[in-house]
Amino acid sequence: MTDSDQYHPATLAAQALGQIDPITKAIIPALHPSTTYLRDPDNQYRSGRIYARADNPTFETAEALLSALEGAAGSLSFASGMAAASAVFLALEPGAHAVAPKVMYWGLRKWLKGLARDWGLVVDFVDTGDLAALAAAIVPGRTRLVWLETPANPTWEIADIAASAELAHRAGARLAVDSTVATPILSQPLALGADIVMHSATKYLNGHSDVVGGMLATARLDGYWERLVAIRSGNGAILGTFEAWLLQRGMRTLAIRVERASRTAQAIAEHFAGHRHVEAVLYPGLPDFPGHDLACRQMQGGFGGMLSIRVKDGEAAAIATAAAVELWKRATSLGGVESLIEHRRSVEDAESPCPPDLLRLSVGLEHPGDLIADLEQALAKAHA
Ligand SMILES: Cc1ncc(COP(=O)(O)O)c(C=O)c1O
Repeated sequence: MTDSDQYHPATLAAQALGQIDPITKAIIPALHPSTTYLRDPDNQYRSGRIYARADNPTFETAEALLSALEGAAGSLSFASGMAAASAVFLALEPGAHAVAPKVMYWGLRKWLKGLARDWGLVVDFVDTGDLAALAAAIVPGRTRLVWLETPANPTWEIADIAASAELAHRAGARLAVDSTVATPILSQPLALGADIVMHSATKYLNGHSDVVGGMLATARLDGYWERLVAIRSGNGAILGTFEAWLLQRGMRTLAIRVERASRTAQAIAEHFAGHRHVEAVLYPGLPDFPGHDLACRQMQGGFGGMLSIRVKDGEAAAIATAAAVELWKRATSLGGVESLIEHRRSVEDAESPCPPDLLRLSVGLEHPGDLIADLEQALAKAHA
């Protein structure tokens, strides 16, 4: 089952491409803990595998499945989303210019403003939702990479992938997209012109809050991709074998988890829009959300499981609401089967554009009515 045009993503994921172990006929892939592989008597490595920091058959199931779902020429798994994302920047030459969004995963923004700058990268941060601002920030011949995150943490702005790809390519730059929140079920950035897609596999791809991992998928197997392969192996930022196996298992239920989380997030967003204790609901699925029309064009089957609410009466009321939930779990991260709530400003750094009254919600697989009732009682308690 390798023809990703023939089958729907849910089918490809459920059967992890339908691979059958050729020796045992097992329908579930084996876990290969071996760190090293046998050399042929004539000194060759015809298996193509030498040492597990570079090659591990257990990585290959998740990587092949991501390639099929993203329509990619190849994929790589990494030790974390940050290992995957930072590799995309480290594969540029020191001194290269890159453009990144003002609103993005704060950990990567911090890395770009700190370690990456020390290493010699020059990064400008712009409102990537504003194509004129993006065009002005891209320097033809000098900008090597444009980075997008869409929907973007924690306010879920939508960036125009196709238009950004055109701007980047016209200037001789690549476009990379952090598609962690959209997942390949809702959006395929490579088909819209992106060169690289990045996922924190810690989130929806694995989906069970029990693996830290990252993945990249590429439009082309070119020299830049070869540098990424070399960085993963050279820096040694690989997944453990057991984590890679768990990741492929989690990916089998990706479609149904994302569809359900998106439906519930939409119901929660609609319920709390205009609520007496809520200043604003930020969710691309709401018709009055600024990026809604673009999200309708660029995403299919839903708008994702992430939304934020801005609580009336400010930061203290937001923190009191998070303190009063009984079902939602007060924790960072996203994309698991259990719903999480987080006062996001408490997590991000001083440069964060996150409003202080914002609660970030990662919607899991619980019954929507239970999640809504719990938020209702928490908001009421915080405003009593
Ligand atoms: C959108 C997004 N990108 C990247 C990352 C980094 O991923 P990881 O925590 O797996 O390193 C995160 C983590 O929260 C994220 O939310």
